[in-house]
Amino acid sequence: MLELVHVAKTYPSPGNEAGVCVLKDIDLKVDKGKSLMIVGPSGSGKSTLLNIIGALDCPTQGRVLLGGEDLAGLDETELARIRNKQIGFVFQLHHLLPQCTVLENVLVPTLADNERPGARELRERATNLLERVGLKDFLLHRPGELSGGQRQRVAVVRALINKPKLLLADEPTGSLDEDASQNIGDLLVELNRSEQVTLIVVTHSLKLAERVGQVMELNNGLLTSRSEA
Ligand SMILES: Nc1ncnc2c1ncn2[C@@H]1O[C@H](COP(=O)(O)OP(=O)(O)OP(=O)(O)O)[C@@H](O)[C@H]1O
Ligand SMILES: [Mg+2]
Repeated sequence: MLELVHVAKTYPSPGNEAGVCVLKDIDLKVDKGKSLMIVGPSGSGKSTLLNIIGALDCPTQGRVLLGGEDLAGLDETELARIRNKQIGFVFQLHHLLPQCTVLENVLVPTLADNERPGARELRERATNLLERVGLKDFLLHRPGELSGGQRQRVAVVRALINKPKLLLADEPTGSLDEDASQNIGDLLVELNRSEQVTLIVVTHSLKLAERVGQVMELNNGLLTSRSEA
């Protein structure tokens, strides 16, 4: 489903002509429907790696294959389509639109899809997912009227609305307390199973690590396996 072959990333750096090498040589294979967690110290390149996997950034060397397709061979329009249809993102900050309701926020990613199902079907899917994450009574609320954990659950539903094959979450519980983090963690693991979506999550929460199939650590530009369930 997802494969990284000898991926390296060097960022240009003003005082250093060679640049800063963040990822040295990353090989990774994730099968369909599996879950993987990536841990590592701050600044080790976790977000960089996730952005490369999600086609938001390009590697300096190496290849990223999604469903057997090399992302380097695609133009910006094709990449945008893959990002929108095949990949769901949950960021540390939820990035919800403050002026839109919960339901409208969830439906935003469907707007760019010309082949989207009918409005009614989409509304039903959105409502159903929001009910499943305990937000049935908040459909018409605005993000400002929700708690941090509730907003993050809206962001998770928004990431899933287009039925992506791959769900990427970058520290989705970073700003939440323990209970709310557990809640989001449970939700991601449950959706990984029920929606058959491949899950890759970057997190500091070791509790979540116990629930996720495989844990890998990023350190000094290399990815190593910590455990396998
Ligand atoms: N656009 C960029 N240009 C230059 N350097 C960058 C850029 N983005 C990240 N870096 C550098 O790459 C390194 C890795 O950053 P990254 O955000 O991937 O780390 P991280 O593991 O996600 O850290 P954290 O746990 O704090 O979120 C850092 O040293 C950072 O300064
Ligand atoms: Mg990060």
